[in-house]
Amino acid sequence: MSEYKNPNLIVQSNQTKSDSVSWRSPSNIAIVKYWGKHGVQLPLNPSISFTLQAAHTNMVIDYSAKKETNHNVSLDFFFEKQQNEAFKTKIQQFLESLVDIFPFLRQLQLTIHSNNSFPHSAGIASSASAMSALALCLCEMERQLFSNLKEETIFLQKASYISRLGSGSACRSVYPKMAVWGKNTSMENASDLYAVPFNTELHDVFKNYQDTILLVSRDEKEVSSRAGHGLMEGNIFANSRYGQARQNFRMVIEALKTGDVALFGQIAEQEALTLHALMMTSNPPYILMKPNSLLLIEKVRAYRQETKIPLYFTLDAGPNLHLLYPESNKVAVMRFIQSELVAHCEDGQIIEDRVGEGAVKMG
Ligand code: PMV
Repeated sequence: MSEYKNPNLIVQSNQTKSDSVSWRSPSNIAIVKYWGKHGVQLPLNPSISFTLQAAHTNMVIDYSAKKETNHNVSLDFFFEKQQNEAFKTKIQQFLESLVDIFPFLRQLQLTIHSNNSFPHSAGIASSASAMSALALCLCEMERQLFSNLKEETIFLQKASYISRLGSGSACRSVYPKMAVWGKNTSMENASDLYAVPFNTELHDVFKNYQDTILLVSRDEKEVSSRAGHGLMEGNIFANSRYGQARQNFRMVIEALKTGDVALFGQIAEQEALTLHALMMTSNPPYILMKPNSLLLIEKVRAYRQETKIPLYFTLDAGPNLHLLYPESNKVAVMRFIQSELVAHCEDGQIIEDRVGEGAVKMG
């Protein structure tokens, strides 16, 4: 993966003044899931996600010319205003891995402040918003220091590429509304290296789709996504799964263009259940759903049957449900959530999210 390597991105230390960059980047929820990878976060099937709005990371990077002459990345890292050694180590390793792409990282003293809009303990995947916010900030530094990446599409493509190196699914977070990652037969411009936006062909009903997240459990996941992807290598269903994902991808693109909310919802649920079935058929097998995840799934399906309201769910690699529905059904669905579902969420917690407008430059 060398196309972004650029040895020329070197600053003149004595002329570099202190400055800062800041981006807000959202989380995303996949409809067709990425699960199973090769190489450096390269997907084995195409995926598509809604970009969220409420769940996001705000990141600020302050930088100044480094006084000492060592070749390491010099970093102070604050998460939610507190110094955080565990996150610092992870981010430092990631930044070290990027020095061929951003050689100036070795020459600067960096201080990163990262804050999430959602509670860290909520069990919401934060790597997509955090890694995309970091990638956007790094590209912003390149823009500031070298006057590169002036064109928005080029800027976002590089930010998506860098996000992918940090956490695969993060590459989809930089675009508004929906994003596609992975080569496929429906879109010529799609790539395994970065995500591309899927907006112009999107039917109006999906442009303000709702995603109410039901927080079922805040416990630390027993098996990380990284380990989960790894276990796909020995999963005897892996190849069938990649075939199913390609087929679901083609179908969901059509549903998203025509506004077929029922087909969309059926695919979303099948994808969610397949993701968890793959976990249950890994070696060793594991289960990330909780009893209340299943209870809520049954209630959602019964409500749909009864009311004919197109309320469907999806799941991430965790126990929380994302409820997907058109904005026109919001009042009825929220009444149902409050009266029937909230009682089964941990501490009654939900996050009212929706399709979002993408990452925003804050400074
Ligand atoms: O980006 P990762 O490596 O954390 O993988 C996340 C995969 C899922 O969230 C389960 C699915 C997806 O496509 O986002």
